[in-house]
Amino acid sequence: MEIIKSHLKKPVVVIGLMGAGKTKIGGLLADALDLPFVDADQEIESAAGCSVSDIFEIHGETRFRDLERQVLKRLVTGDVQVIAPGGGAVMNEQTAELVFGNALTVWLRADLEVLLERTGRSDKRPLLRNGDPRVILQELMEKRYPVYGRADVTVQTEALPPENNLEKVIKALAAYLLAQDTLSP
Ligand code: S3P
Repeated sequence: MEIIKSHLKKPVVVIGLMGAGKTKIGGLLADALDLPFVDADQEIESAAGCSVSDIFEIHGETRFRDLERQVLKRLVTGDVQVIAPGGGAVMNEQTAELVFGNALTVWLRADLEVLLERTGRSDKRPLLRNGDPRVILQELMEKRYPVYGRADVTVQTEALPPENNLEKVIKALAAYLLAQDTLSP
């Protein structure tokens, strides 16, 4: 773990679709690295004084994306920590530039069945309420995976306990940081 900590010079942002495990694995990663963890949706909820679902319902998605960009701008230009934004954050062009330009990004990639199983456990995601979640997630995968593919590190997460997926993330991060170090002049 010290290898990662000593090479880490910017915040880590964990990206991926709803249900990819950003909050769970991001939180475990922060614990393992002894760094703070921030869930951007929770920051937005505190700033707005209401839930993400209510922001979507009352103010609309455009307002939510504005709040999301403001919160992420502050987070990615701040201290080294682990940040988990909502899955749609980097689909906003300006937010994407902020995130990819300032942070070390880790894409938690997951197959449709895994995402469906995980998102089926809660109903707090407004985007999955307006139709068949399988169809919606499939469409989001097609639209978003090319953008998520810009991440510095990609980790395929499986239907395994989060600790196993965490181990994959730690190995991939360490390999990436060591390679960067070797390549830098
Ligand atoms: C969204 C994902 C959600 C939340 C909002 C929109 C998205 O976060 O930000 O419902 O566009 O994918 P999670 O990815 O943490 O579920």
